[in-house]
Amino acid sequence: MTFVPLSRPPVDDEIKRAVLAAIDSRQYILGPQCRQLEAELASATGVKHAVLTSSATAALWLALRALGVKAGDEVLVPSHTAFPTVEAICVAEATPVFVDADEFYTLDTRDAEAKATPRTVGMVPVHLYGQSVDLAAVERLASRLGIWILEDCAQAQGAEWDGRRVGSFGRAAVFSFYPSKNLPGMGDGGAVLTRDDEIADRCRRLRDHGRLDKNVHAELGFNLRFSELQAAALRVLLPRLDAMNERRRALALRYADGLANLPLALPEEREHGRHVYHLYVVRTPRRAELAKFLKERGIQTGIHYPVPTHRQPPVEHLSPPPLPRTERLVEEILTLPMSADHADEEIDRVIATVRAFFGA
Ligand SMILES: Cc1ncc(COP(=O)(O)O)c(C=O)c1O
Repeated sequence: MTFVPLSRPPVDDEIKRAVLAAIDSRQYILGPQCRQLEAELASATGVKHAVLTSSATAALWLALRALGVKAGDEVLVPSHTAFPTVEAICVAEATPVFVDADEFYTLDTRDAEAKATPRTVGMVPVHLYGQSVDLAAVERLASRLGIWILEDCAQAQGAEWDGRRVGSFGRAAVFSFYPSKNLPGMGDGGAVLTRDDEIADRCRRLRDHGRLDKNVHAELGFNLRFSELQAAALRVLLPRLDAMNERRRALALRYADGLANLPLALPEEREHGRHVYHLYVVRTPRRAELAKFLKERGIQTGIHYPVPTHRQPPVEHLSPPPLPRTERLVEEILTLPMSADHADEEIDRVIATVRAFFGA
């Protein structure tokens, strides 16, 4: 029985050659590969600046600091996201205000509006599973409230809203190059993207100890710099991003055909969006049984995420109110194998096994 992993990062000779050349260059941190990748990322997203950093978590913290958040500021954030989105808000000393999910599992702007207060300074919509939030509604709400938007694109690099790339809508945006992401690195990595010169400058300074120049530190930052080896590998993959996302979309279509007519809710694509299927998440009240059945047959699954962020111990002191839709969906969601490197035959095996589970 062959094992079907949840995700499979690409490895090939072109990537290896690029990394070896970076090793030979003897420049390992924030060198020419990083500078070129920053220019290429900015241009691919349609913004002016990209600032590479050690992870998307770091990118969120840098962007929040650059946006000037301070203690007492409230930031609207979907509870249904990876914990780092919320963690970065807390570490930047602002207060996360948790918003329920809409029918596409992303931030519900009606609930966000209801939760806004005079202390609300910004909103961090998360383009979850590869799908854009309703950016028209998000932009309308932000302008009505007079607050900034920081897009969390960690799961949605290359996704679009109305033909425009996510990451080009907010005051700033963050991306992740974690190995399972749509643009997979060979380790941790992330970036802040923005068209705002001041935010970009401040992020660059904060990622290198708040340094103004070699010897003077204007403020406290941290070491959140980026590696040349990683940048070299990512520069090989960035031109393949659209093709890799097309591959994910083709596999999603394969799943949709193969899993039709089962008592299983499949992902739906928003009308104005282009979903890039970072994760293929289905939904069933029989989640635990189905996961066990697949595991016994060599198929890995995941749950993104079983414990909602508003129920995590570090935010308990905020006493977040219940979020009914989020609390219901986390009991039923299951992530099936998906990446650009999965073979059709692997997805067909997952489909056949899910169908067998339901006796179809
Ligand atoms: C939505 C979201 N935001 C932020 C992060 C943090 O990304 P990183 O692992 O690069 O710090 C993740 C990682 O899974 C994520 O899924």
